[in-house]
Amino acid sequence: DGTHSYEVGVVGAGYVGLTSAACLAHLGHRVTCVDVDGEKVARLRRADVPIEEPGLPALVGEGLGRGVLRFSTEFADLAGTDAVLLCVPTPTGDDGGADLRAFDRALGALARTPRTGVVVVKSTVPVGTTARTQRELGRPAVSNPEFLREGHAVHDFLHPDRIVVGGTDPAAAELVARLYAGLDAPVLRTAPASAELAKYASNAFLALKVSYVNVLAELCERYGADIGEVTGTMGRDDRIGGAFLAPGPGWGGSCLPKDTRALLRAADDAGVDFAVLDGAVAANAHQRERVVTKVREAVTGSPHGSLRGARVGLLGLTFKAGTDDVRESPAVAVAHRLAAAGAHLTGYDPGASGPVDGVQLVDDPVLVAKDAACIVLLTEWPQFRELDWPQLAGLAEQATVVDCRNLLDPAALAEAGFGYRGLGRS
Ligand code: UGA
Repeated sequence: DGTHSYEVGVVGAGYVGLTSAACLAHLGHRVTCVDVDGEKVARLRRADVPIEEPGLPALVGEGLGRGVLRFSTEFADLAGTDAVLLCVPTPTGDDGGADLRAFDRALGALARTPRTGVVVVKSTVPVGTTARTQRELGRPAVSNPEFLREGHAVHDFLHPDRIVVGGTDPAAAELVARLYAGLDAPVLRTAPASAELAKYASNAFLALKVSYVNVLAELCERYGADIGEVTGTMGRDDRIGGAFLAPGPGWGGSCLPKDTRALLRAADDAGVDFAVLDGAVAANAHQRERVVTKVREAVTGSPHGSLRGARVGLLGLTFKAGTDDVRESPAVAVAHRLAAAGAHLTGYDPGASGPVDGVQLVDDPVLVAKDAACIVLLTEWPQFRELDWPQLAGLAEQATVVDCRNLLDPAALAEAGFGYRGLGRS
């Protein structure tokens, strides 16, 4: 029935590698996960998971307990595996394209490791990288991109919309498909280049969708329409789909911006005009400015008013709810612009890891309201809905809430004594 148990290696214990390792062990394979970070490996051996991912600590504990998941700093421990998944980061390089240094180091180490079977490229890599990997290592390589959202990685791994297997060696592709035999999802066999491009294309398309909605929200404000009613109508069309139609302070995180840049870089290298995607990036930059302008209007009554000395409270700093990640967070970008304009910022986030330049962090969300002229909600943490808004209004005296996620109920805020501005809401 295809549910064979394999010896699997995973290189990289970030959210993709660790999730893949723990889930593959859960699916019945024996998995060895290698990372260069000795301290991280030591923690993982104690089932101490260093990232915020629901369900992951339990799966890591389960794998360790059953002896089917182990962690190591040594590539030598990958000897004898049927397949090795490369899950190392490919951040933006100097030219906007993917920086493949970590990836190439992993290839080098793999080349020196005997008997490591099929190379499975899970890292998001430029088109052609899987073919190059196969050439350089002289063994079959398969592109098998992931579509895991941060904060939902375990769920997305175990319930994927599709599994993409891009390889030229039929036996290798078959083996990779069989790693996922326990999952109920279509397996799409493609050329390696198609699988690589499909990953970039998917993330860039999601970015495009959000940018489109963010501009629509601006139009709604000008014409007295409501963005929720517009996207609610659009989303009912199966050809469009209802997901990724929520306006916000812009798309961010460690994937959408990076992959969009890399796809634009690839288009440029190929001499292909991808103006529609350039437009999405420009709209995303504009969106941050639009938030700052809304704050200026809220505080001074003018889009050009000065924020010097104004007290502004920020609710949410992570790039989306349900994560501790502030990498390329639009909330942080907005905070930096407000600070540069002279505003005094306090901020609260229930998950954010570490400090944010120019923001005085408080550990109670109510405190961001203290003497604030404006409160800006930047991340859609559901608990912000349940705040004691009348209490916040008491601390703020006269203030406006700029709700960049359309999370709050305008009527309830008005009742509490706040002015309210959302995105694309009249
Ligand atoms: C994204 C993709 O959704 C995953 O499929 C992909 O595997 C992953 O990148 C990756 O390449 O590894 P993630 O970075 O976790 O996942 O973030 P998303 O949930 O996609 O959100 C991206 C940004 O869009 C966030 O800033 C979010 O707030 C924003 N967004 C999303 C909106 O502003 N509106 C929406 O309706 C949806």
